[in-house]
Amino acid sequence: MKAVVIREFGSPDGLAVVDVPAPVPGPGQVRITTEAIGVGGVDAVIRRGTLAAYGFREGHLLGSEVAGRISALGEGVDASWLGRRVWAFTGLSGGYAEQAVAPVEEVLPLPDGLAGADAVTLGGSGVVAHFALDRARFAPGETVLVRGAAGSIGITAVQLAARGGAGAVAVTTSSAERGARLRDLGATQVLDRSGEAGSDAPPDSDVPPGFDVVIDVVGGPGLSLFLDRLNPNGRYMAVGVVGGQPPADFGTRLMNAFRKSLSFATFSADTVPGPDRQAVRSSQFTEAAHGDLRTVVHEVLPLDQAASAHRAMDAGKVFGRIVLAP
Ligand SMILES: NC(=O)c1ccc[n+]([C@@H]2O[C@H](COP(=O)([O-])OP(=O)(O)OC[C@H]3O[C@@H](n4cnc5c(N)ncnc54)[C@H](OP(=O)(O)O)[C@@H]3O)[C@@H](O)[C@H]2O)c1
Repeated sequence: MKAVVIREFGSPDGLAVVDVPAPVPGPGQVRITTEAIGVGGVDAVIRRGTLAAYGFREGHLLGSEVAGRISALGEGVDASWLGRRVWAFTGLSGGYAEQAVAPVEEVLPLPDGLAGADAVTLGGSGVVAHFALDRARFAPGETVLVRGAAGSIGITAVQLAARGGAGAVAVTTSSAERGARLRDLGATQVLDRSGEAGSDAPPDSDVPPGFDVVIDVVGGPGLSLFLDRLNPNGRYMAVGVVGGQPPADFGTRLMNAFRKSLSFATFSADTVPGPDRQAVRSSQFTEAAHGDLRTVVHEVLPLDQAASAHRAMDAGKVFGRIVLAP
């Protein structure tokens, strides 16, 4: 089968299309003939080699999220799974391929009417958005800021906060055009990446002075600036690091604001029990199939153009998610 591996860590040029044997599902696993493969921010982080300490080696087959039809079952898997159209989490490898394996507990049937491309755009990120707001104890009427809202996590978080009755849903993004698209999804104020009101001014003059909840996909050097934007009793939820690590002294900043009773937390979906993740994912898939939750597929590219997909991500051109199709 055709697959995409990292021949050399670093730039997207290090990705190579190779022919490898199709994987054989082990006990408790299924094999999926893929129809859509999500290209996530974490794939780019692995490709750059910055996660080498986690044991990734050259030859690594990228990809963690696929949709397709189950074509083989491992020992112990119920026969009713064979032939079903599903979404699956393959772990941190194995997705960029014509065939992928996943443990059956990380597999979810797709509802009728949900395209594979939409499933791999929502499947991983929607759960992060849901539980990040939940762990932040977001309540109706509160003001929310989604930092790095133009990715698939942010796009879902904006919609969930808006329909959850947020008093305001502010977003950071890098252009007025992206801001307009985020408004269409439920954002009420558009800020630039530094948190200032954007150039598409009038409605932004009512940017709240502070936020009760910040969902931060970006991290990086700018994180402290956004900590300063929390209201008293505000909760900051760091869910991603697309901008790198925060400054080492951000904890000092938090302590200096001691009298505001702020909370800072990281959130990883890995800490949510599997059945809880699947329950939320299942209901989000149903909503997406009915058009009640919107997914944004930036572009669908052939599998052998994975390097182009990574170049687009590195260039900051992607709004939503790029999807590969074998
Ligand atoms: N917590 C979890 O369980 C979990 C699970 C999966 C993934 N993740 C993490 O989530 C992140 C990927 O999420 P995603 O796919 O939604 O994000 P993404 O699409 O990679 O990026 C989101 C947006 O952030 C903005 N951005 C990028 N670089 C920036 C920078 N240096 N400074 C400020 N803004 C920047 C860009 O929008 P603009 O150009 O419009 O500003 C971009 O569209 C990764 O860090 C991944 O490791 C976390």
